[in-house]
Amino acid sequence: MTLLKIAQIGEPVLRERARELTAAELASEETQRFIDDLVETMRDANGAGLAAIQVYRPVRICAIEVHDNPRYPYKPNVPLTILVNPVIEPLSDELFDNYEGCLSVPNLRGVVRRRAEVRVTGLLRDGSAFDRQVRGVTAGTFQHEVDHLDGVIFVDRVSDPRTLCTWEAFRRHHEAAFAERVRALVSRFGS
Ligand code: NI
Repeated sequence: MTLLKIAQIGEPVLRERARELTAAELASEETQRFIDDLVETMRDANGAGLAAIQVYRPVRICAIEVHDNPRYPYKPNVPLTILVNPVIEPLSDELFDNYEGCLSVPNLRGVVRRRAEVRVTGLLRDGSAFDRQVRGVTAGTFQHEVDHLDGVIFVDRVSDPRTLCTWEAFRRHHEAAFAERVRALVSRFGS
């Protein structure tokens, strides 16, 4: 497997709209190898998710996985999920404030308002249908990744720039309060 280079904010590829994959493309050995590399790269960087566009390949694939993540210790675990051609629709009007970071945005975090309950449809890497309701902080993770496929980075959605902070300042000044809010969400939604 190969670790891929992660594009950093300012790279034009991050602003493209990634294109859909055909069933044949998805099934190809080359794409399947690429997905293995995408997962490896996400894990190596301790990401909770990584979109293909972030490794200079503007197709609609993203990986999501949270397993006792040291970058996001308060995030509930999410089993490895590969989303292909995903579509997100809201299931309610409820919003919550999510403190986000991104492997393409070095050392910066900020508060993004996300949908608390969404339905995600699309394909899995084997071409089978994916259709799941996702809630709470995990719903925020899915929305962040699918945003990448439309050339949107979390900083675009930070409504109050005063929430922007480094990772160290987050840990020092914001993590305790945010982790408390996450616990409340997790106790309601289980995710
Ligand atoms: Ni990101």
